[in-house]
Amino acid sequence: MNAPKFTNPLNLVRDDRVHRDVYIDPAVFELEIKQIFNRSWLFVGHDSQVPNAGDFITTRLVNQPVIMIRHDDNTIHVLFNRCPHRGAKICEHLSGNARPLRCPYHGWVFDSNGRMVSSALHNDYDRPTVSESDLNMTTVPRSVNYRGFVFASLSHDGPDFEQTLGPILPAIDNLVDRSPLGEVELIPGIHKHVCPGNWKLQLENIQDAAHPPFIHAASNEAGTKGRLDEFRMRAEDVMYGNNNAGNTLGESELGTFPYGHSYLASIPIRLKVSREAEREYKMALEASFGSDKTKAILSEPRHFNIIYPQIMLQSQFRTMKVLRPVAVDRTEISVYVFRLKGAPEEYDNVAIQFANATNSAASIILQDDLVTFANVQEGLTTSASDWVLFTNGVGKDIAGVEGSFTGKGFTELPMRNQFSAWREYMSGNPVGN
Ligand code: FES
Ligand SMILES: [Fe+2]
Repeated sequence: MNAPKFTNPLNLVRDDRVHRDVYIDPAVFELEIKQIFNRSWLFVGHDSQVPNAGDFITTRLVNQPVIMIRHDDNTIHVLFNRCPHRGAKICEHLSGNARPLRCPYHGWVFDSNGRMVSSALHNDYDRPTVSESDLNMTTVPRSVNYRGFVFASLSHDGPDFEQTLGPILPAIDNLVDRSPLGEVELIPGIHKHVCPGNWKLQLENIQDAAHPPFIHAASNEAGTKGRLDEFRMRAEDVMYGNNNAGNTLGESELGTFPYGHSYLASIPIRLKVSREAEREYKMALEASFGSDKTKAILSEPRHFNIIYPQIMLQSQFRTMKVLRPVAVDRTEISVYVFRLKGAPEEYDNVAIQFANATNSAASIILQDDLVTFANVQEGLTTSASDWVLFTNGVGKDIAGVEGSFTGKGFTELPMRNQFSAWREYMSGNPVGN
């Protein structure tokens, strides 16, 4: 029997399964953009990308071009990359310094907070029909700089930043706290991938403890036996414990929070550094925070955090993946690596090597996953069954405080949690589940 025509999206999600239309129906995708991505808090960039007044980066919030720019008063502004005159994009470069911003089309000039400074033909616009705001660039409705991580929301309304992200913000705190100076900065260079799969496939995959022994069997084998030389990077040079990592996933704890956030607890992988560098680093941390706090920071047990709907953060590895939905079957994935200010340089090098080994275009681990997303996307077009199952662990989720849950091993709790948030966003009123 063919899939029923999409009528009410809320009927596409049940407690232990979802209808395949959530991955393949362009109408569902359009509604997701409107209800989820245009209303939630999205990552724009890191403030270290714009250290000086006038520095900017350009990016996209979902499909809308925006500029993140530092103003003279040191505040960071997120502006739509659109001229108020006739709509041209004002910044055409990925990054740079623009003091002032000048539209390439007819030369209107704007301050770094978006206020119009002058136009060649300003007098023509100085009429009663044109208001001041008509002449300024438009600021993205809401933005927050959280410890250097700039988030924005395309909607004026909706849950506030703390309410929505509060329970998962300790993941960002743990990354930043690992710096002896309490600050991180982006290491220049971002890995970017576009994969032929729905955005939710990436998010589900990142905390899917059941897939590595199968889809990553070849990479695990290569890592175990040190056969990655031909890829110019050796996983065993970068990490401790890679050999057994896959075997311990079944014991890992998974935890979820309202609004779709979750974490997968530690697996026995940690980055290799020399003893001298480790000693120097710990001393610097202890000098800043004392030994108890240093211990707490370094023993934080999470392997992966999901900040729904688009961020996958590995605080201890200083790596962050951010997804951007492009089409129902197309997703852009950006990979960022952070420097811990005040830590020995070796820490930067090993974090870069880790990101290269796990998330670069040459990484066989990432490629395993990207190929799988394309594979699933195509499998879901068959009329074999309308349902995708997330039954593993159903009934065993353990309720915690304030809407949190935990489970163990191969539970599909994070996926069920994501779809619980999905339902709430799609209903038009996300209030936490
Ligand atoms: S479109 Fe920008 S000045 Fe005309
Ligand atoms: Fe994977």
